[in-house]
Amino acid sequence: MEVVIDAPGRLAVLAADAVASLVRRRPDAVLGLATGSSPLALYDELVARHRAGLSFAQVRGFLLDEYVGLPPGHPESYRAVIDRQLTSRVDLAPDAVQGPDGGAADLPAACAAYEAALRAAGGVDLQVLGVGTDGHLAFNEPGSSLASRTRVKTLTAQTRRDNARFFGDDPEAVPRHVLTQGLGTILEARHLVLVATGRAKAEAVHQLVEGPVSALWPASVLQLHPHVSVLVDEAAASRL
Ligand code: GLP
Repeated sequence: MEVVIDAPGRLAVLAADAVASLVRRRPDAVLGLATGSSPLALYDELVARHRAGLSFAQVRGFLLDEYVGLPPGHPESYRAVIDRQLTSRVDLAPDAVQGPDGGAADLPAACAAYEAALRAAGGVDLQVLGVGTDGHLAFNEPGSSLASRTRVKTLTAQTRRDNARFFGDDPEAVPRHVLTQGLGTILEARHLVLVATGRAKAEAVHQLVEGPVSALWPASVLQLHPHVSVLVDEAAASRL
């Protein structure tokens, strides 16, 4: 595991360097895309690289997770978020990015279909990750199996509070259920790039880098992966 401590703006540049060098090497690369605030500066940086000539025309993307039950087109569905933050701002093909279908009538079938789509694409070359304050990866809350696959999960009260800022500051407005890639699914990506900034992430970063591997801190499972880049600012690194 490589840990880099730098200013937030520099972290975005480093993460974008990793994405850009992959896409130049493999124009049809498969990117794993995270939502949340952590990758925002990275996506802005990728848009800047696109304007400077980097093409994503053959790239495909897979989201980590999705809320269950939001109406189609809801602005906080992760599908809408990634379209707003990245897809619509670069030359990704219209259907190049997919996520688990949180509106499906049969959710377990939608999870199995998503796993099949990931396999058919040949797996994820580079997975962008954030981390929750409670150590969750994607929506794998504490207690998630370290070998888990894409499935339905129930959010903790903490995560609903953390994400209330996207739902009018009302934790009750945050959906209770989500579909998420499992920790086992995420570990199959060939390179994992995690970005975390701010003091609220310090304990999660401490546990993911230095803690024992434990389902109580799901992000600690990254210690089992051979190629992980952890990009953190001073505040998020303050417990290392
Ligand atoms: C969210 C997402 C995760 C994200 C994490 C941190 O709930 N499901 O994919 O990495 O929590 O979010 P943020 O980057 O906004 O702090």
